[in-house]
Amino acid sequence: MKKIVVTGGLGYIGSHVTVELQEQGYDVVVLDNLSNTSIDVLDNIGRITGKKPEFEQLDVRNKQAVAGFFGKHHDVDGIIHFAASKAVGESVENPLLYYENNLNSLVYILQNIQDKQVSFIFSSSCTVYGQADELPITEQAPVKPAESPYGNTKQVGEEIIRDTCKVAPNLKAIALRYFNPIGAHKSAEIGELPLGVPQNLVPYITQTAAGLREELSVFGDDYPTRDGTAIRDYIHVVDLAKAHVAALQRLIEDKAETNYEVFNVGTGTGSTVLEVVNAFEKSTGQKLNYKIVDRRAGDVTAAYAQTDKVNKILGWKTEYSLEDSLASAWKWEKKVRRIS
Ligand code: WQD
Repeated sequence: MKKIVVTGGLGYIGSHVTVELQEQGYDVVVLDNLSNTSIDVLDNIGRITGKKPEFEQLDVRNKQAVAGFFGKHHDVDGIIHFAASKAVGESVENPLLYYENNLNSLVYILQNIQDKQVSFIFSSSCTVYGQADELPITEQAPVKPAESPYGNTKQVGEEIIRDTCKVAPNLKAIALRYFNPIGAHKSAEIGELPLGVPQNLVPYITQTAAGLREELSVFGDDYPTRDGTAIRDYIHVVDLAKAHVAALQRLIEDKAETNYEVFNVGTGTGSTVLEVVNAFEKSTGQKLNYKIVDRRAGDVTAAYAQTDKVNKILGWKTEYSLEDSLASAWKWEKKVRRIS
């Protein structure tokens, strides 16, 4: 049985990937420092798959701890690296927290695996494109100067992996550039944990519908789009998780032409903020209070993926619709808030 380490494996995307890996027969070891999640997620994963993954509470910013872990675990076949901070606004206020957490940890992990036959999947982001010149966005689109330290850590992270792979022929890596992950597992056992005021659109929508928030603020309706609100590519987190398994399989089965590849992972369809609001109301029957306010600094007008490469090379495509994703997000919110 292949052994896969998932750093940040109790987080939102990490927990959904852990479930998919276990269901595909992988032996999963979850590392997490529990700074942005709860240990209860481990039991919740076990309830879905019938097998609680091995878990070690470990902070990948701790160089000795990372070396100690890989000193104990010689038989790691793959690593999927999620452990990182991901709040754009916080990264602007506290850049060094982001450079330390997101980059030091990546270096320490790579230092311990660069001479081994390990498959490495990196959690990257469409933010590396900024406002792309052409839509939909392909992997050939130029990487733009980052709008935030968070986005910069994704760009630099990819460069660190690319440069390491050039001198470590045994190391095989894929960077997955996510668009906007939303929704939750159909069991409502795992989802996006609501810690603090949500920065992202969909958790803010579900908390508004649950009565925790007065109303949704729609950040700007004066964009040059079909209804004036900004466009994004909202992908169900389970579809995204399956893309990670497909990427891992490509490396483990040694099918990659080069030892560093990049894939955009999105639905290929753009939705405006108001279209998401309408889809939420349609798929849940919940009326949503919202008001239009000024644009949010740093937001781009539109970003959605061109998915030919991930569809053809990884043999993966999305299965869930926007309505499915929003209905699953609402089911999760009701579970968390104990709303019948
Ligand atoms: C989506 C749209 C907002 C909240 C972020 C990260 C990115 C990636 C995905 C990790 C935008 C609008 C939002 C609200 C709103 N994360 N909005 N009212 O900014 O596209 O991307 O999450 O990889 O790195 O930057 O996602 O959900 O914040 O915003 O109108 O209360 O919803 O303006 O148009 P974003 P988001």
